Amino acid sequence: MPPGATPGGKDETHHIKNSVAGDFSRGRESENQKHQKDDEENDEQEFGDGERCARNAGEAQKARDQSQNQKQNGPTEHGDPQKNASGANNAAGGTIVPRRFSARLLEITKYREAAMTSIKDIYALDTDGSTWSVPQNFDVTFNWDYDDGRAAMMGLYAKGKQMQWDAETRIDWSQELDEDNPEQMPEESLPIHMAGCYLRMSPKEKANVRRHFQAWQISQFMQGEQGALICAAKIVTQVPDADSKFYAATQTIDEARHVEAYKKLLAKFKVAYPMTKPLKELIDQTLRDSRWDMTYLGMQVVIEGLALAAFGQIRDGAQNPLAAQVNAYVMQDESRHVAFGRLALRDYYPQLTQKERNEREEFLLEACYLMRDRFDAVELWQNLGLPIEECATAMYESGFMEKFRNSLFTRIVPIVKDIGLWGDHIRNGYTEMGVMEYAKTDVQALQDNDEDIAKQFDARRRDIQRVIDRAAVAAAE
Ligand SMILES: [Fe+2]
Ligand SMILES: [Fe+2]
Repeated sequence: MPPGATPGGKDETHHIKNSVAGDFSRGRESENQKHQKDDEENDEQEFGDGERCARNAGEAQKARDQSQNQKQNGPTEHGDPQKNASGANNAAGGTIVPRRFSARLLEITKYREAAMTSIKDIYALDTDGSTWSVPQNFDVTFNWDYDDGRAAMMGLYAKGKQMQWDAETRIDWSQELDEDNPEQMPEESLPIHMAGCYLRMSPKEKANVRRHFQAWQISQFMQGEQGALICAAKIVTQVPDADSKFYAATQTIDEARHVEAYKKLLAKFKVAYPMTKPLKELIDQTLRDSRWDMTYLGMQVVIEGLALAAFGQIRDGAQNPLAAQVNAYVMQDESRHVAFGRLALRDYYPQLTQKERNEREEFLLEACYLMRDRFDAVELWQNLGLPIEECATAMYESGFMEKFRNSLFTRIVPIVKDIGLWGDHIRNGYTEMGVMEYAKTDVQALQDNDEDIAKQFDARRRDIQRVIDRAAVAAAE
């Protein structure tokens, strides 16, 4: 049934004009300016030739990080929570922590520290106010037909309900990230790993760049998930079909959980980045458009495709179990979201005129070029004091980005074909981009694989828990 149409042919929808200009307050400035002025630790270290490009920014960030630690935990010796926990007790003549408990205590201390970390306090760059408002002008639509909708859509809704999970309990948040390489990703995953300015750095400087790059990526995931949360909620209010409203409601809670999971992970990096410009541009275009299908096209097809490509690289490349697990679980939900976009749009686009479809194809092509060419992390390199041009070029040419682009088009191109936006315009564009091959991808197989991998993480966790339980029983006997 086409969106907006009703079984009896009469208009059973009821529209309420919605003009949400957004009246959120603005103006709470980032605290980073204050942090930059805090005293720097006088910790002399040997810098490599990379000093010219990274020393100033690295030290400024270190000072901000240390200042942040001190604000949260009180004065520490080099910000080491273990020293802080046991040393403070000793100095005060209090209880000495037995050695066998110290590792667990350190784990708990770090877990509490991360849980207490506020994202707004760890932004490395100004967020340009504490909120962002996108003006809206669309009809909120009621539907008086409460009969079950399309079988496939209701099946997806049932799956969405059954597969809810709690980020708090499904993931063991006491797991820690690695000090030098938080996600324990291979060196090739750092897109500037072959750039001269990086090769000249000392090991300590390289570790700092790794931490910032990974935190920048997770920040984009967290920010993008908030975009998805808002788009899913918009679909609930705007789309005419009741079955789509039902499914989008389950997606809305999925996206809130994704924001929560990435927020918890990001807190462990102790540094965060605002939404990068190209992503903001994409989300802005998607949200501003008053046509209901454009929210699907922008979010469910383009941004979800981008997200799946990026999450997959960490899920499959990270040796750190926490980083891999968070991405695997989020991807399990995302594959349902992409299926939702396919179901809703492939019923709708064949009903449009070629002219209307061309407009959508043009939007898609522009979005694909933007994702291919403009995600160059300029603000990150700038913040680290690195040569922007050199880093952006190295990033574009890196093997990591090449894999990312392959993965991106694997996720997007077959969906575009499937929903019927496959006119001359898009086919010529994709031929020019050299990505027509991806149209043959088996999307269902990709989605099944995303689900299987998440289940494997669950099974691994159950095995570990069984071993821990057995050890506890043995120790008690
Ligand atoms: Fe999501
Ligand atoms: Fe999603």
